[in-house]
Amino acid sequence: MSKRFYLTTAIDYVNGQPHLGHAYEKIIADVIARAHRSLGEEVFYLTGLDEHGQKVQQAAIAEGKNPQTYCDELAVSWKNFACALGLTNDDFVRTTESRHKVVVQAILTKLNAEGHFYKAIYKGFYSPSAETFLTEKDRLPDGSFDASYGKVIELEEENYYFKLKAQQQWLIDYIEATPGFIQPGYRRNEVLGFLKNNTLEDLCISRPSSRLNWGIPIPFDPNYVTYVWFDALVNYISAPASQGDESVLSVFKGEQLSSISKLNSQNTNFSLWPADLHVIGKDILKFHAVYWPIMLKAMGLALPKQILVHGWWQKDGQKMSKSTGISVDPIAVIHEWGLDAFRFYVVRELAIGPDGNWTDGGFQSRYQAELGNGLGNLVNRSLSMLKRYRNGNIPTRSDELMADAEKAVQETIANLRGNELQAALQSIWNLVSRGNVYVQQTEPFKLAKDPANAARLDEVLYNLCEVCRVLAVLISPFLPETAAKIYAQLGLKQLPHQFSDASWGSLQAGHEIGEPAPLFPRKDKPA
Ligand code: MSP
Repeated sequence: MSKRFYLTTAIDYVNGQPHLGHAYEKIIADVIARAHRSLGEEVFYLTGLDEHGQKVQQAAIAEGKNPQTYCDELAVSWKNFACALGLTNDDFVRTTESRHKVVVQAILTKLNAEGHFYKAIYKGFYSPSAETFLTEKDRLPDGSFDASYGKVIELEEENYYFKLKAQQQWLIDYIEATPGFIQPGYRRNEVLGFLKNNTLEDLCISRPSSRLNWGIPIPFDPNYVTYVWFDALVNYISAPASQGDESVLSVFKGEQLSSISKLNSQNTNFSLWPADLHVIGKDILKFHAVYWPIMLKAMGLALPKQILVHGWWQKDGQKMSKSTGISVDPIAVIHEWGLDAFRFYVVRELAIGPDGNWTDGGFQSRYQAELGNGLGNLVNRSLSMLKRYRNGNIPTRSDELMADAEKAVQETIANLRGNELQAALQSIWNLVSRGNVYVQQTEPFKLAKDPANAARLDEVLYNLCEVCRVLAVLISPFLPETAAKIYAQLGLKQLPHQFSDASWGSLQAGHEIGEPAPLFPRKDKPA
């Protein structure tokens, strides 16, 4: 069984409409997925929805719907959203699907039988809106709880707990011994700091069905359901299990194994687990870097190879929120400016790690400068000049820009291998600029005026067209529509999907290109 490069995103809560933050995460994961395919690897990209919990239940009730109907309706718009972003996900998991629930229940049964849980009474503070228990440590210096927890209530309740306390040291040792496990490095230090300076509290994994019933029934106690982390995190292995991934299935036996196997949707010949990459936002780092590894170890499964943690977007320096209406609607932007312009901006503007700030002005100036005047202009004038001066026929090969192109290819691939997507775009745009400077330096429009310069003009035009072709290959993971358009305008039938195609000299003398057309039309700002 061959192992695929398996990458995942966080699964989004289904209690509202998707916004820029959700779009960003899915796009960076998509760029990484496409980049690995361009490197010739087999990839499996998973995304999906987190559909249980009190917030979903309450939102459904507010709309007079049963929670499943509510989730089914919203899932349609989230799946359409994934399409609108051009995602190449291979599966879309929903935590209310039977294939997921059966895996969660099998894990609960297994871990319970192996003594990982106990039942205890909890008395203390609880935030219904954050769906989390709070301790004295969560109090602010003035004694109150942070406003993000909403109204905090006192609660006394018996629940199941997952034992975490004994697991602290091996996890510290593992993170210290595995520098690439959490990226960027400062997020890794944050997790190590947390683990070294705190004693892990055991994790509450249940809620009484009487209080919250929109969860997965605990198989060994019908009075309880599980939800949130013990439910959501498991999506990363329930989807592979449903694909028939032996590396996950091998930890289950007997009844559990047969109940999972019954729901296998496919008979695959590849394995996925361990995940190569979990792409997540900074707010859910602790769950992925602390609870999830401990859960996996208890289950007998290998740990994911890497957790890539991105920052949060703001709009005009303010937190995006439903209540204030401060938000960016990715669909509206895509509608007006095109999908690739949106994908370009979010990856180019922000390295994976720090927080970012969306401004409409910033978006428009990158569109104009880097896409319109940069890439768009280079491709349009190169192809138009070839049409005008050579009837659209590619001249004999010339290698004047070969070294520049090769440098860009190498740098782009190295940056992509390190998940440095912003830096990869910078490497590609160095070649865009080189191409535009080359036009200014060689002045093909002047060369064309004198037939004595024909050989030189041939050289210049070959270099320009071949640079455009190499650029199409390099941008393909980021701007797939534009890459395909450039290839079509070059009269090439296939798609620029393999980095091996970026090697110099592939355009053949005599090949006739197609019709040039602007890639990023100028938009005049409203007066
Ligand atoms: N359902 C949980 C994740 C479970 S994963 C097993 C959840 N959902 S969420 O909808 O609140 O967030 C989904 C992802 O979107 C998270 O990685 C989160 O960090 C990210 N973002 C939500 N708002 C964001 C921004 N404003 N900016 C960037 N990413 C943001 O958490």
